[in-house]
Amino acid sequence: MPFSLQLSHTAPASVDSPLLAIILPQDPSLDAAVRAVDTPLAGAIQRSITRRDFRGGRDETMLFVGGDTGAQRVLLVGRGSATLTRAVARRAAAIAARQAGKLGTGAMHLLLDGADAEAIEGLALGAAAGSWAYPDLQTPPPEKDRRAQLESVTVLGADTDAVRAGFAAGTAVAEGQAIAKRLGMMPGNVCTPETFVEVGREIAARHGMTITVLGRAEMEQEKMGSFLCVAQGTPEEPRLVALEYHGAAPDQQPIVLIGKGLCFDTGGISIKPAPEMEWMKFDMSGAGGVMGAMEAIGRLQLPVNVVGIIGSTTNMPSGTAVKPGDVVRASNGKTIEIINTDAEGRLVLADLLVFAKRFNPALAVDAATLTGAIVIGLGANAVGVFGSDTSAVDEVLAAGTAAGEPGWPLPLWGEYKEQIKSDVADLKNTGGRAAGAITAALFLQEFVDGYPWVHLDVAGTAYSQVDLGWIPKGPTGTPVGTFVEIVRARARR
Ligand code: BES
Ligand code: MN
Ligand code: ZN
Repeated sequence: MPFSLQLSHTAPASVDSPLLAIILPQDPSLDAAVRAVDTPLAGAIQRSITRRDFRGGRDETMLFVGGDTGAQRVLLVGRGSATLTRAVARRAAAIAARQAGKLGTGAMHLLLDGADAEAIEGLALGAAAGSWAYPDLQTPPPEKDRRAQLESVTVLGADTDAVRAGFAAGTAVAEGQAIAKRLGMMPGNVCTPETFVEVGREIAARHGMTITVLGRAEMEQEKMGSFLCVAQGTPEEPRLVALEYHGAAPDQQPIVLIGKGLCFDTGGISIKPAPEMEWMKFDMSGAGGVMGAMEAIGRLQLPVNVVGIIGSTTNMPSGTAVKPGDVVRASNGKTIEIINTDAEGRLVLADLLVFAKRFNPALAVDAATLTGAIVIGLGANAVGVFGSDTSAVDEVLAAGTAAGEPGWPLPLWGEYKEQIKSDVADLKNTGGRAAGAITAALFLQEFVDGYPWVHLDVAGTAYSQVDLGWIPKGPTGTPVGTFVEIVRARARR
């Protein structure tokens, strides 16, 4: 679906549009710009506010029918009483875009009066999020029942460099998020490790990045016995894809982004129960997030070096699959006793973290749908954030908050390490049910050598099991925003 976002400095009252969406705060008082839109509506907007039919509560909407020219429909969208942030603007814009999609207006103009650069960025993000769809695998309804898809959103904003920069950032991140969401929505038979190679090649070609692709043979040469043991149950070629974005001088240490890319996680020999197993197509969301972030970073041409590394395979039970009790050796030489083949993400990430070392990272951040425990602990509203370098953790937490993907820190205390000690190997791959997200992160830490590192457990946040109102059920785009924000903040340093 072609979708375009534009920024325009036109006054709202002179907009000619099938739909003008106006985002208003709680109990709004109309200013001159919106009053001018209300004039051809004979004051209907003001009346509905005076009557308290429209109160501006979060997600509240009200539709007005206009004439054949100018604003042919006006949609009020409430943003509630919370301080106006990027996330608040994003949410309201997404509500507007979804409404436009339901109406079938095809195009929409979007106004949030007095929007600063942050809010404009949120509007661009929200407009894209609210119009996102994955129609590829569904037969469209018959022509007569069809509504036009929302193909064009024009954001109204001030004629300043700051607003233009905010808009550019919003559209870039939105493009990245669309890539991540598409990959996240694709079923496991459509999104395969090869898909990551294809998407990686496209991003590399578009933005002049260097791409490296490893398969089974190359990973054997690298002695990645940890990653490879996960892939040994599937005939599919496992893939490690590394994208290098050169935004600064070659001697500048890069930020390295790392993603878990399990195209499907059955659990392997330690097979998962059938109910909701289909959800595990989302187990590549960390890798999808890396791909999306690299696209956004390429578009923004940020003056920082960035490397994106993903490890992709499918966790399957089979006659050749790794089994509980097996001991494998990772590329840093450490041996791992496999207790549960369903704790496969950490096995893939272990070798990626060792691989990352060769890029001499200034900071490495991995994202993974790593544990069910983080879903229990933090639910769908916070990313689990782990790291031993407190300033790096604070930096990532700040980035997540700014991006509207808030995280919450959890400890990596040495006491928990007892749980992953093995009788036969250096480590075991699970530490029992207690503190499951922490022991998983501690396992990863064993493969981090001499660079600042932060781990994001996005198992609860990358994919929504319910319609959230502003975005439909499905992939959320997390952690693309956080990744890009980390790099943008470093670019400002
Ligand atoms: N991909 C899953 C994590 C997951 C589980 C995400 C449920 C969302 C919902 C991961 O590979 C996994 O299976 N982890 C196990 C680890 C356990 C065996 C130590 C888990 O969390 O149950
Ligand atoms: Mn698993
Ligand atoms: Zn998994």
